[in-house]
Amino acid sequence: MAPRKRIVSGMRPTGPLHLGNYHGALENWISMQNDYDCFFFIADWHALTSDYEDTGRTREFTRQMMVDWLSAGLSPEKSTLFVQSHIKEHAELFLLLSMITPVPWLERNPTYKDQIDQLNNKDLSTFGFLGYPVLQAADIIIYKADGVPVGIDQAPHIELTREIVRRFNYLYGPVFPEPRTILTKMAKILGTDRRKMSKSYQNAIYLSDTPDAIMKTVSQMITDPQRARKSDPGDPDVCNVFEFHRIYSDPSLIAAINTDCRSAKIGCVECKKIMAKHLTDALSPMREKNAYYTAHPGLVDDMLAAGEKKAVQVAGETLAEVRAAIKI
Ligand code: TRP
Ligand code: SF4
Repeated sequence: MAPRKRIVSGMRPTGPLHLGNYHGALENWISMQNDYDCFFFIADWHALTSDYEDTGRTREFTRQMMVDWLSAGLSPEKSTLFVQSHIKEHAELFLLLSMITPVPWLERNPTYKDQIDQLNNKDLSTFGFLGYPVLQAADIIIYKADGVPVGIDQAPHIELTREIVRRFNYLYGPVFPEPRTILTKMAKILGTDRRKMSKSYQNAIYLSDTPDAIMKTVSQMITDPQRARKSDPGDPDVCNVFEFHRIYSDPSLIAAINTDCRSAKIGCVECKKIMAKHLTDALSPMREKNAYYTAHPGLVDDMLAAGEKKAVQVAGETLAEVRAAIKI
């Protein structure tokens, strides 16, 4: 049997994971574990690039991210799970790549420009923030990844990684394969206000939410905006609650709601209660595991240490090749 292709991806530890993170990335990672040799890491150095002023909760968020990952179904038996900052080799490769990466490549990166505009409450005119994609390139190629599963917003970074690889291989000889982008479909899940689900919009449902918290958030969800009264017929096709039913309810219920909403037989309050119940049931195994791992931080740290051991081995081998190629 041919060796499994290797994939690498990371997430910044900026807080607990919500359904947008789950359906937008994690669910995909979980299913890839069976077909690929997976390296998944918590990108705490990347979190620093924009949150360097406010680092008080980074360690807490890092462990919490691992708890969320394990609860959702990432498995240390199938995948290599670790914390970026524990593998110092990423930093050495980042430094070496920074020597050969032209600054204009970084300045013209669309994600960079967007973020500078959007996060205008933070001073992002730092060296580290400009170099974000160079660190990301190091994260990926240090494991000689064949592919990188990411959302469309990260695609320019993977493209830049490929350009850096070509430049490195041209200057020093072929060391790195060019990783390909494995695009993850964007999550259809919207927040309660119908904007993209995001911690900063306070419109999210978290994997670790209690049933009460879920009920409360669901009750605030915007439904069909045209439907003012229960006696008005509704249109499920424009309703976010119905999108959730599509994911969490069974086909016969979905069909019934579809009809009953259009004929005004069901009201939004009742419809939301049913949906919240199904969502709560679906999340209940994750919530239980979450509570277990949260109560056993030593176990979580041991799993991270085991992943670190595997990662450092591979990273160390690559670095030895890199130093030889550069003759340093
Ligand atoms: N930049 C990614 C994000 O914000 C996180 C990340 C860091 C990453 N290093 C990576 C993703 C390497 C894929 C591969 O989502
Ligand atoms: Fe949406 Fe359900 Fe209300 Fe119809 S009844 S508009 S599907 S919440």
